[in-house]
Amino acid sequence: MAEEIDVKEVPGVGDVTARKLRELGIIDVKALLLYSPIQLAEMLNTAVERAERIILSAYNLLKERGLVEDDFVTADYLLEKLSRRRYITTGSRNLDTLLRGGVVTGAVTEFYGEFGSGKTQLCHTLAVNVQLPEEEGGLDKNAIYIDTEKTFSPSRIVEIANARGLDPKETLRRIVVARAFNTTHLLLLSHSLPKKIKENNIGFIAIDSAVAPFRAEYIGRGKLSERQQLLNRFMHDLLRVAELYDVAIVITNQVQAQPDIMFGDPTKPVGGHVVAHAVTYRIYLKKSKKNIRIAMIIDSPEHPPGEAVFTITKDGISDPET
Ligand SMILES: Nc1ncnc2c1ncn2[C@@H]1O[C@H](COP(=O)(O)OP(=O)(O)OP(=O)(O)O)[C@@H](O)[C@H]1O
Ligand SMILES: [Mg+2]
Repeated sequence: MAEEIDVKEVPGVGDVTARKLRELGIIDVKALLLYSPIQLAEMLNTAVERAERIILSAYNLLKERGLVEDDFVTADYLLEKLSRRRYITTGSRNLDTLLRGGVVTGAVTEFYGEFGSGKTQLCHTLAVNVQLPEEEGGLDKNAIYIDTEKTFSPSRIVEIANARGLDPKETLRRIVVARAFNTTHLLLLSHSLPKKIKENNIGFIAIDSAVAPFRAEYIGRGKLSERQQLLNRFMHDLLRVAELYDVAIVITNQVQAQPDIMFGDPTKPVGGHVVAHAVTYRIYLKKSKKNIRIAMIIDSPEHPPGEAVFTITKDGISDPET
């Protein structure tokens, strides 16, 4: 993990502000980049202008130390950076191939589909697979699982770990689970991610489901714009966390199946274009016969359209037997 700078070193941050920031869980200067001036001003109970100066100073300090990129970079640098991305295997070769290696670090991947399409099973499998050594498709790192629907299952983790020859107890210890009760709690949790990532050597974060709490709390047309605004903030926070800390983030989103719509024209996920703009990749999961599922890439900037067939078993996600 890259070098850390204490918030105290930011010009304009005195002892009192540094203490307040630490109390808020903002210890590393990089974490300051996760907030908008308005958010930070509210949190510190200070003027927006001052919050803006703090964020700008933090950014300049990180740039001086080479801890964030220059604003202008050459395209070959970008290519080199892309080649440094790493992948976590999904457990299915077919799905890994569709995703060009698996779920990628530095990005947010959305899996959406109707109930039982495999979103939660995929998150469980990835939380185990990230722990595998690199030559087996993992990152040799740990996982955070944010559970908003009370569907996280330690016993499923044990089954998936056993299938991979991992020590189940150790595997469970390497997954940090948080239950989010509502959207306020979920937004708070997203702000403590930088600290948790550093403390626990995290490579993968699942948010299952990321959208359901917003849908449950903001009902009706009158609430729609408020919901979209909060959801937008949450999604952008996640994207910045993924980019700044180079972790792979997966969010799930349930959609209702619409029988009158033919396959190839998937239903629109909740959150609509708000989620679409903030996530890097969207994958649509569709139920097929028994435990067979079909994944489709939707709107990817770099993947050609395609499909992959995978299966859900006791051992987690894998390929169908041929
Ligand atoms: N232990 C297991 N062995 C085999 N298959 C399992 C096991 N546990 C779950 N499954 C399969 O996974 C399916 C459920 O998938 P999952 O919970 O991931 O759906 P989901 O997309 O998260 O749905 P929702 O939108 O309701 O959260 C079940 O229908 C079952 O086929
Ligand atoms: Mg689920």
